[in-house]
Amino acid sequence: MDILKNISLKSYNTFGIDAKTAYFTELSDEKELPLLLNWIEKNNLPYYILSGGSNVLFVDDFPGIIIHVNTKGIKKIDETEGHVFIQAKAGENWEDFVELCLKNSWGGIENLTLIPGNVGTSPMQNIGAYGVEIKDSFHELQAMELQTGEIKTFSKKQCNFGYRDSYFKNEGRNKYIILSVSFKLTKRNHALNITYGTIIQELDKKKITQPGLYDVANAIRAIRRSKLPDPDQLGNAGSFFKNPLITQEHYNALKSEYPEIPGFPDESGKVKTAAAWFIDKAGWKGFRDGDAGVHKNQALVLVNYGNASGIDIIALSDKIQKSVKELFDINLEKEVNIVKPFNNRDLL
Ligand code: EPU
Repeated sequence: MDILKNISLKSYNTFGIDAKTAYFTELSDEKELPLLLNWIEKNNLPYYILSGGSNVLFVDDFPGIIIHVNTKGIKKIDETEGHVFIQAKAGENWEDFVELCLKNSWGGIENLTLIPGNVGTSPMQNIGAYGVEIKDSFHELQAMELQTGEIKTFSKKQCNFGYRDSYFKNEGRNKYIILSVSFKLTKRNHALNITYGTIIQELDKKKITQPGLYDVANAIRAIRRSKLPDPDQLGNAGSFFKNPLITQEHYNALKSEYPEIPGFPDESGKVKTAAAWFIDKAGWKGFRDGDAGVHKNQALVLVNYGNASGIDIIALSDKIQKSVKELFDINLEKEVNIVKPFNNRDLL
């Protein structure tokens, strides 16, 4: 277990924010965890568990230790006539995992292609895209309780998944480190989901009438590449805000003024609207202030053109929230995890 000092986090977060951490360690074997937790307690340091760094914004330098989860390994743990159960360690790259499933013709996560990040953090916010969420093919996960060192198994029910939400973002926040996640995937009769957005048009363009798993993934790859910036080229953390849920009355009032406003009925009885639409309508799409900006093709994505600080991004997001509130009476909630140094002292 090597503990490094004074490390830049620029290459460890997809926003490309050049924050520094006082200490940094790479966790490549979960057996080292108890030793590491001991060291942290002895040194009385705040810590933060970082995985793919694709959904975090560092607002300042971090005065404690960053634990970078880098555990690897994928195995088949069970199989039935129609399904396969695959377990992946937390540090596996999500897109590599999706590609492996596609290669083996295992269905269930093909719509979740090109989502940055790692397998271990995918259940935290129940990653979702193009009509599919991880909860749809999730089987169970293993996590270590940080206080006790005990390894626990969480079923789908115990994870309490919701829209960009789970037990680990609520009661379980900062209490566990996810070690591995297993998925129940289809071997045949895949339940393809091609109704969202322009997937069908994309398949039509290629004259595909009987799509397979790869066809769906490739259609989604083309759509995502046309709208969403590649973090390797332009720093970003995907959607910065959640899509807001509003009352039917509020939606009706907005619709009478803006007939084109998107809205989808939600199981809660509310209407799910599109944060991107509000931000776009408020005139922010393509906006740039210094190196902080709003992406030109997707208003929900804030971008770092090079040297923006976490504070610059937060300042921009505050202005967007304020303007959307004033114009539409909509409260935009941040989807990205904001890492503020001293808040993390209460992790101990
Ligand atoms: N729209 C605009 N302006 C824009 C972009 C979109 O008006 O600049 C409108 C479109 O008209 C569309 C609606 O907003 O009707 C929704 O747009 P889109 O289908 O692109 O999806 P989204 O709701 O903005 C969500 C996820 C994305 C995911 C896409 C596709 C959230 C917070 N975001 O975005 O997830 O890729 O759907 O399923 O739910 C992420 O979480 O990082 C992420 C990228």
